[in-house]
Amino acid sequence: MKLKRLLLVFNATLLLLSCSESPKSVLIPEPVNMVKHDGRFKIDSNTLIFADSTDSSSTQNAILLVDLLNSKGIGCRFLPTQINSSAKGIIELTKNGCPDSLGNEGYAIDIEHNRITIRANRSAGFFYAIQTLRQLMPANFEKDNFNAGSVALPCLTIVDKPRFSWRGLNLDCCRHFMTKEFVKRYIDLLAYHKMNVLHWHLTEDQGWRIEIKKYPRLTEVGAWRTLPDGTRYGGFYTQDDIREVVAYAAKRHVMVVPEIEMPGHSVAAIASYPWLSCTGDTLQVETNWGVFKDIYCAGSEQTFQFLEDVLFEVADLFPAPYVHIGGDEAPKFRWENCPKCTVRLKNEGLNSYEELQRYFISHIAKFLETKGKTIIGWDEILEGGRPHNATIQAWRGLDRVAVALQANAPVIVSPTSHCYFDYPVEVTSLEKVYGFNPIPKGILPELQPLVIGGECNMWTERAPQETVDSKVFRRLLAISEVLWTYPIERSYPEFLNRVWFHYSRLSAMGVNYGFEKSAIEFKSAIGDKGNSIIVELERGKGNLEVRYTTNGVEPTLNSTLYRRPLELSSTKTIKAAAFNNVARVGEVLERIFVVSKNLDKPIELGFKSSGKYLGGGPNAIVDGRLGTIQYNDGIWQAVQGEDMMVTIDLGSEQLVHGISLGFLQNIPSWIFLPLWIDAFISDDNKTFEQFARLDCPEGAKYESTIIYRFVGKFNNPFKGRYIRFLAHNPGPCPRGTRLQVLLPGSLPMR
Ligand code: ACM
Ligand code: ZN
Repeated sequence: MKLKRLLLVFNATLLLLSCSESPKSVLIPEPVNMVKHDGRFKIDSNTLIFADSTDSSSTQNAILLVDLLNSKGIGCRFLPTQINSSAKGIIELTKNGCPDSLGNEGYAIDIEHNRITIRANRSAGFFYAIQTLRQLMPANFEKDNFNAGSVALPCLTIVDKPRFSWRGLNLDCCRHFMTKEFVKRYIDLLAYHKMNVLHWHLTEDQGWRIEIKKYPRLTEVGAWRTLPDGTRYGGFYTQDDIREVVAYAAKRHVMVVPEIEMPGHSVAAIASYPWLSCTGDTLQVETNWGVFKDIYCAGSEQTFQFLEDVLFEVADLFPAPYVHIGGDEAPKFRWENCPKCTVRLKNEGLNSYEELQRYFISHIAKFLETKGKTIIGWDEILEGGRPHNATIQAWRGLDRVAVALQANAPVIVSPTSHCYFDYPVEVTSLEKVYGFNPIPKGILPELQPLVIGGECNMWTERAPQETVDSKVFRRLLAISEVLWTYPIERSYPEFLNRVWFHYSRLSAMGVNYGFEKSAIEFKSAIGDKGNSIIVELERGKGNLEVRYTTNGVEPTLNSTLYRRPLELSSTKTIKAAAFNNVARVGEVLERIFVVSKNLDKPIELGFKSSGKYLGGGPNAIVDGRLGTIQYNDGIWQAVQGEDMMVTIDLGSEQLVHGISLGFLQNIPSWIFLPLWIDAFISDDNKTFEQFARLDCPEGAKYESTIIYRFVGKFNNPFKGRYIRFLAHNPGPCPRGTRLQVLLPGSLPMR
């Protein structure tokens, strides 16, 4: 339950760096060790590139480098055998002298004025060295049409290797379909930033995206959904497409890990083959977002046969030693009511439906083991005990890492707090991601090696392909550095300086990167006399202008230019946006400021706000800011499981003609409206008399996401100095109840 508002005087100073200064290093991720020297090495048509003739990894990468340089008009040559090592203008790739400590992915580069030496133990190391060289080139080098006779690189020495072996991006190609070309482009972008896993989310309630020869309806039916306007939306990857993408990725040292969701998030499969579910009912491929009660039946042999058949084909298509089997957000409601699932539970001696899920997933894990694969599952799969040999992807919070480690499971860390790139940048800024540490405090050193790395998640419920760049970039830059570079003195301002430099490369690559943080931030404070609100609009980026309206219309280039803080003496809706001199940049931000009798009045809270929803401070309810539909806007206050009591001192006896209290419901995030609100009035803050009860209408209780205002208007005003509100919490929501409350349809979660 969230009660709106909050008072928040923001007085933190914002540190902005001057962009004119070129950063000390221009590399992202920053190498572990780099020393600069004087001078430059010029690559031109006289440059010779050679490798150990007996070693395929250095040879292949030498050819890759030659091809890259020649595609940019620099006509250098590859020599398969070593020539006079004192020759000038040489780039040598060699295993010789590479310390074992650099492992499979590490590398060392020495750029001297007359030669470059690249050392690595394995192909991946040479490949990453080449990515580093690319980042040392001028930004325009990344343009398709870059064509120069030569480029010069600064002399330096780099010794570099990754902190974590698992550096991934999860791309949800189900909620919105991404073309094969787009996926390949992302593989290039990952590799350029030394990321090495593409977690390819291929099956969902809203679409099945991988061709399975034995079950053609999965893509004939399951890959398509019918939108409310009647259009058919969807797409899928043929097995040839998959092979092409996997091979493309392998050349770039990106492992493609398919995710085939089970037992939940499986409506598209059930729509294709209704016998996969407990009820056998015919379903449509989902068009809503959320969590759905129809999941694979755990009591039916047919389900397991189907999944084994599917995974047989999947295992063949993806050489990676892992298959992600999902396992998140699987309500047990159908299983609890299914005779076959209940029999399975009894026959297997299981004590709960969570244990039935463990049984289900262990069965699949053992099958995949026969194909040489280990499973990965989202952290819910630990709830009934760790399934056979499972690696855990911790997403519900950093605290899940310790839970997985207790079960002795390897962990991939990707909490919503830092790694959900579908979240708006207002919520998860670049700085927040840069502050991510995949090894939370308190994890014993001996357990830390089980943390194999981290992943960012690009869920696409609200992100069609053309918007993905702006969500993933800039934040991918931060996570690539978090996962690659050892945490040697990280400084966000220093990183930000490199990011700004890096933008020119992203632009050259055609990446439509978004903002580091909100393009505009609202700050507000109560005016000196306590009857107005001072609103400040802070620019997220120095070279933009902010324009705004107060009449409800969207701001345009012709709207009022923001110059100084606004003083509001009456309730106003401010819509603001950032502009360059030709167009709007980023979203329109909207805030409502309410100037009412309770503004800045002393307030007493009879509840303790829950940690994530402090609303900006204890005075949130009287600061004039109205919460937005975004539950994590920092404006809302919330409590878990308790009633909310608030007493406001109006300062003197007043006539109360009406009251209005805004609450947010966001069922996907388990935030509910109060059942009802009691309102009381008092002269002395001791004896209170009830003067109103405002009920939550039935209709509002079922709205997935709504701001509902509880309003009371009184023809005969009530008199008093203290007003007290008591909002009644609906209390804990047991699984069955919650599902029933939400029927029909969904229990959306994300
Ligand atoms: C998840 O976001 N449900 C893994
Ligand atoms: Zn069943």
